[in-house]
Amino acid sequence: MINLNVNGRDHALDIDPDMPLLYALRNHLELNGAKYGCGLGQCGACTVMVADKPVFSCLLPCSAAAGRSIRTVEGLGSQQAPGPLQQAFIDKQAAQCGYCIAGMIMRAQSLLQDNPQPDEQQIREHMAPNLCRCGTHMRIIEAIQSVVASGVRV
Ligand code: FES
Repeated sequence: MINLNVNGRDHALDIDPDMPLLYALRNHLELNGAKYGCGLGQCGACTVMVADKPVFSCLLPCSAAAGRSIRTVEGLGSQQAPGPLQQAFIDKQAAQCGYCIAGMIMRAQSLLQDNPQPDEQQIREHMAPNLCRCGTHMRIIEAIQSVVASGVRV
């Protein structure tokens, strides 16, 4: 049995401890925001936060996440009440196909939690591991900058 604390809720799951966290989130907890892209830690589509740090959940075994605080895009807000980054991504139309967006938002969340006032270079460097094949990186950066400019804490 593995205990995962996801978005503030505890889940006891009868799963293989070596299973990647992404599979547990998507297949056992129906949290489908994080996506499977490459499965190799090369695209960032699967990014979630564990203990406030961004991780590639396609690589992290559940045993390494057990007992730690896991946060997914679903924990940042809802369709009715989006969180600040979610709203900014909508306002700036930062998604094209949308596949990378949950991972992008979670990586941005970790940045703004650590540093609420990053400059553009710091945003670019922090977001570099996450790829968008549609090429909306400029809008993604704009969305993050709009949250920074608003002064709202994420
Ligand atoms: Fe995890 Fe690509 S699916 S980094």
